[in-house]
Amino acid sequence: MKKDLLKLLDLTGEEIHEILDVADQLKYDQKHGIPHEHLKGQTLAMIFEKNSTRTRVSFETGMFQLGGHALFLSGKESQIGRGEPIEDTARVLSRYCDGIMIRTFSQEGVEKLAEYADIPVINGLTDFCHPCQVLADLMTVREHKAKLAGLKMCYIGDGNNMANSLIVGGLKCGMAVSVACPEGYDPDPAVLEFAKSEPEFKFELCRDPKQAAAGADVVFTDVWASMGQEGEKAEREKAFAGVYCVDDALMAVTNPGCMVQHCLPAHRGEEITAEVFEAHADEIFDEAENRLHAQKAVMYLLMKKD
Ligand code: CP
Ligand code: NVA
Repeated sequence: MKKDLLKLLDLTGEEIHEILDVADQLKYDQKHGIPHEHLKGQTLAMIFEKNSTRTRVSFETGMFQLGGHALFLSGKESQIGRGEPIEDTARVLSRYCDGIMIRTFSQEGVEKLAEYADIPVINGLTDFCHPCQVLADLMTVREHKAKLAGLKMCYIGDGNNMANSLIVGGLKCGMAVSVACPEGYDPDPAVLEFAKSEPEFKFELCRDPKQAAAGADVVFTDVWASMGQEGEKAEREKAFAGVYCVDDALMAVTNPGCMVQHCLPAHRGEEITAEVFEAHADEIFDEAENRLHAQKAVMYLLMKKD
């Protein structure tokens, strides 16, 4: 049966580690010029209903490096933008392509696409989650710290798609996860339910960023207003400004050698100061690079023909 990557809630910790191991190997192969055209002759359709730089370029480049081809379909310019049902798009693309990557608003839409497609579907971001980003994040933390289990991850800011995937991915990999969000901007209830589901999960949701960051080994943050929330910008600024910001004072309560990660794009002076961003730029751009390797691993594992 074909497999998809729709959200990290669907994966076990072992499956996440398997993806990270393959990603490490593919990164090694690429850096050492070792051919790895495992998806020769295959085509990935990439549907974008929201903007992107990293996701588009890393999937397209990744598919090329694996010996395949990726094609870009903009929501607006394809028939999707004129209301063609997702069920029909799924069945049509299944007749031409070998995999589909989709970035859109609704998680339900992605789940429906996967239900009707005969080929693997990969979630490249919805309002609910951003699994490919968090696989790259976990890969980066593991590269820098040589492990995940036992480390403390903290997330400061909006309880958005990034927060949802980080909580699930972090807990499934044995990390302690501490989140600070303003009231009214909590992570998704299904994710909070998941965080309570296993007695060994170490999870904390609080309002005070310093409480969340105390003793952290890696600090994550993301924009206050995500794509699709442009109309709420002013209201969100009021709720977040001056408090939900990764700055030197916040970093002072973390563990020595604490990493900083940001999925990008970053808004300096809002969720992160320019000083903290630049001090951790190498880690943040490693994270961006690892989108390529982590997604190549996902495509390889889902699309390889046995
Ligand atoms: N982090 C991320 O997904 O970046 P893009 O929006 O540029 O794809
Ligand atoms: N939370 C952000 C992530 C961008 C990669 C958004 O959805 O816009």
